[in-house]
Amino acid sequence: MTGLQPPRTVTYGLACYCSGRETPAGITQPGRGGGVADVPEVVRTRRSRPTGCPGRPRWPATARGNIEVFDQRAPGYESGWLGRLHHDIANRAADLALACSPAPRRVLDVGCGTGYLLRELAIRVPDAEELAGLDAAPAMIEAARSAAMDDRLSFRTGVAERLPYPAAAFDLVVSTTSFDHWADQRAGLTECGRVLAPGGHFVLADQFSAWLLPALLAGRRGKARTKQRASQLLAAAGFRSLQWHSLYAVIIRAVTATK
Ligand SMILES: C[S@@+](CC[C@H](N)C(=O)[O-])C[C@H]1O[C@@H](n2cnc3c(N)ncnc32)[C@H](O)[C@@H]1O
Repeated sequence: MTGLQPPRTVTYGLACYCSGRETPAGITQPGRGGGVADVPEVVRTRRSRPTGCPGRPRWPATARGNIEVFDQRAPGYESGWLGRLHHDIANRAADLALACSPAPRRVLDVGCGTGYLLRELAIRVPDAEELAGLDAAPAMIEAARSAAMDDRLSFRTGVAERLPYPAAAFDLVVSTTSFDHWADQRAGLTECGRVLAPGGHFVLADQFSAWLLPALLAGRRGKARTKQRASQLLAAAGFRSLQWHSLYAVIIRAVTATK
């Protein structure tokens, strides 16, 4: 997308923004360099730690460790340079979403975190009726509810793989930097397609790059981290008119699609 130029930040953040550590050891800080070589570090930091989690939505044990990490991060998620990085990515995703779907009525953010993107969309789309966010981490949802100042915003705990919404409930579905954490990406995309109304738009932003192929050979085996693999999954889930956009630095890309 031509209007979206990466800032002078470097890929450091892309290596760790989704890890459980705010300032992970061995990862360089803003403006000091760093690079995609850091990415495998993320993989190493995200071991699953299966534990019993009564009262939580059920998902495969391999995903639980991730969610606990996000629960811990929730209170400070929007703070510091990592928070600013997420805001930048979300702002660009909002630009892209509204370029595709300028006046959505019902919006869903899958893996919404603390709800920043939806808060932005609520400001920018005054005619939207409903802006719903879903996240697997209960503490993220708690933080999203606390920050929400608009009655049209609603948040609930749940997983992408089993969205608790009826078919065709939304005309815009977005997801930013969450897809890589989904335990079953195929099922999650199928669910996104199910809840999207015919003609609705889907915007999926995450790490998609051939630079990430080494990670696929390590702990991220099976994840759709390249445009090609993600496009195949999206097509299998029934999405069409796929268009890829550079969103942030060299790794964060977004794909737009329609149902
Ligand atoms: C890196 S954060 C991104 C949050 C927010 N979308 C943003 O852009 O700042 C990833 C989020 O995805 C959530 N998540 C991970 N797996 C999920 C799943 N299967 N279903 C829904 N949310 C999930 C995590 O709990 C976490 O809040």
